Amino acid sequence: MKANSFVRNAWYVAGMSGEFETDKLHGMVITKRPIVIWRGRDGKVVAFDDRCVHKRMPLSCGKILANGTLECSYHGFAYDTAGKCVTIPSQTDVPIPTRAKLKPFPVVEQEGVVWLWAGDPDNIGSARPPRTPEFISPEWDNYTCPPIHVPANYLLLIENLLDITHFYPLHDGNIGDLANSKIPIEFIEQEVDGNPSIKTIRKVDNYQHPPFLVDWFGYETVDRVHTHQMSNPGLTRVQLRCAPPGKLGTQAERGYILHHSHTPIDETSHIWRWTITVPKGQQSLHPGKTTMESMKEMFPAVVDQDRWALERQQKMFAFEEDDYAEVHLRSDRSILTVRKILEALEKGVTKEPGKSWLAA
Ligand code: FES
Ligand SMILES: [Fe+2]
Repeated sequence: MKANSFVRNAWYVAGMSGEFETDKLHGMVITKRPIVIWRGRDGKVVAFDDRCVHKRMPLSCGKILANGTLECSYHGFAYDTAGKCVTIPSQTDVPIPTRAKLKPFPVVEQEGVVWLWAGDPDNIGSARPPRTPEFISPEWDNYTCPPIHVPANYLLLIENLLDITHFYPLHDGNIGDLANSKIPIEFIEQEVDGNPSIKTIRKVDNYQHPPFLVDWFGYETVDRVHTHQMSNPGLTRVQLRCAPPGKLGTQAERGYILHHSHTPIDETSHIWRWTITVPKGQQSLHPGKTTMESMKEMFPAVVDQDRWALERQQKMFAFEEDDYAEVHLRSDRSILTVRKILEALEKGVTKEPGKSWLAA
């Protein structure tokens, strides 16, 4: 799969639970499908085609009436939370046509996240939204940024997240730690909640942390495990665990988990949300300042640098390929695997058990 397409058959983040207040309508586009989504009075989030069955007026521009139905702002067709048209104000003398109902989209709300399946429900199979227990655990502090519109295909973000060899030079003067890029990588293909997935593991002992990580965790020399995983096409999970040499897995261990959701709008844009989770109250080097506070201060600048690169990369896809061909490094294995996985999900093909996606 190239960065000019997207997979419909996947669970994507429509938003965080807190974004959905009761009776508040949201209009969004996921994989080029217009969607109206809201939390009904029974607490359940429901999602439908955003086009009114009458004349395509976006229903997300309508309102919820006192009786809990959704009224279209144009001629007043009203729909219940099952998507069925229950009122047509200008024609009350004949039954409402049975075809007057909205196409629903499967929604799962889980651990603080509202997930939506924009593809054919028959293709859900064993795929479940990836778990994010840290988002609601009292043992973790968490923070999610407001949604970020990125004018680039979502695959470019997934590739960016899996490939930390870009820390230098893209994040030079920020998180740009060149030594990081040279740590040997282990690649693991495994299913995550029924989704094909690829994970990279970078393990290193007696590693000299750059100043910002010394600040976040308080240790200069560490044993460290750093993992990056595309859990499904909608979510990438990054975890860093570190401790003084020999102390990983003990009380001395510190770290963070970052979740990045990437929800395609269309071929050339997506919505990015990042969530930082840190063990509750974990302190940075500054007295009284938590790791979370330090990370929150630094992160927006890092994200701007990534967004800057993605936008520019995307523009280069408008040109003819001619004889252009990418040159790949050892570290690109995870990216090549992701491309295979997305291509397979798009086409609905599977791979032989035990074989790498790269051989599929
Ligand atoms: S377009 Fe919605 S009622 Fe006419
Ligand atoms: Fe980056």
